Amino acid sequence: MRLFAGSDHAGLDLKNHLVAKLRAEGHEVEDLGTHDATSTDYPDWAARVTDAVLANAGSLGLLVCGTGIGMSIAANRRHGIRAALCTDTFSAKATRAHNDANVLCLGSRVVGVGVAEDILDAFVAGTFEGGRHAGRIAKLDS
Ligand code: RB5
Repeated sequence: MRLFAGSDHAGLDLKNHLVAKLRAEGHEVEDLGTHDATSTDYPDWAARVTDAVLANAGSLGLLVCGTGIGMSIAANRRHGIRAALCTDTFSAKATRAHNDANVLCLGSRVVGVGVAEDILDAFVAGTFEGGRHAGRIAKLDS
């Protein structure tokens, strides 16, 4: 799977950890930043990652901030982006199956590393069911 990852300063450590995990598993991951702990604005990183996801069909995005909320708000302003803020594995699997989510948002101050890993695993392994869900997705973009 090809993925693009980004975070603000609050999500930096978790993002770095998850990027390393994905790469170790053989995924192709571009880490678009941030790369240091300097305070920075989450909408800037959401824009970078969503630009990359929109430009690369079939790719996924990973966005991490303190709550995941700012990233999800920012990402979902982009036409064609379906960003899901997940705190559990059921939601991560369901949002791929039903919403064809193309960006996962995580809150580093909300979920621990182990839970975040499991959520990411479920998200990356998930597949869109299509069928009745396809028309609903189309309405999002109409
Ligand atoms: C940064 O302090 C924090 O506001 C940000 O990471 C995020 O949680 C915003 O939604």
